[in-house]
Amino acid sequence: MRILLINGPNLGTLGRRRPEIYGSLTLAEIVERVRARAAELDCEIVAVQANAEGALIDFLEEQARGADGLIYNSGAFTHYSYALRDAIEGSGLPAVEVHLSNVYAREPFRHTSVTAPVAIGLITGLGWHGYIAALDALTSILRERSKREGAST
Ligand code: DQA
Repeated sequence: MRILLINGPNLGTLGRRRPEIYGSLTLAEIVERVRARAAELDCEIVAVQANAEGALIDFLEEQARGADGLIYNSGAFTHYSYALRDAIEGSGLPAVEVHLSNVYAREPFRHTSVTAPVAIGLITGLGWHGYIAALDALTSILRERSKREGAST
């Protein structure tokens, strides 16, 4: 099973960016933990971080075909990028949206996610654990789906 992991703008500075909100781990450390869990689940992670909207969309266009699912934290693009929303939807991948912080406990502009409607679910406020929870849930859902599809053919 191959899962794409997208992190958007400013998430490359995790560790030094507002640790009281986002935690003290760097993105590299988080991705390492996600990969370790993925190895236990017999799945491969293809990860990207970019600050540019177009780079994230290009990544999705290039990688979606060979992938089974998507975990993404679009950073502030979450709140206004219809282009990213369309790219996530267009990928056709079952997707889980993750936010390190609890966006609903923060400024009002963070309460809107234009991307969440094209995800199967949303995890917010669990810090880096949210990525692991997303991976566990997504791989379980994918396995259930493939079992069901196998049973019906
Ligand atoms: C974030 C929340 C966003 O509002 C913010 O712009 C981010 C990070 C989070 O992980 O909590 O960059 O997506």
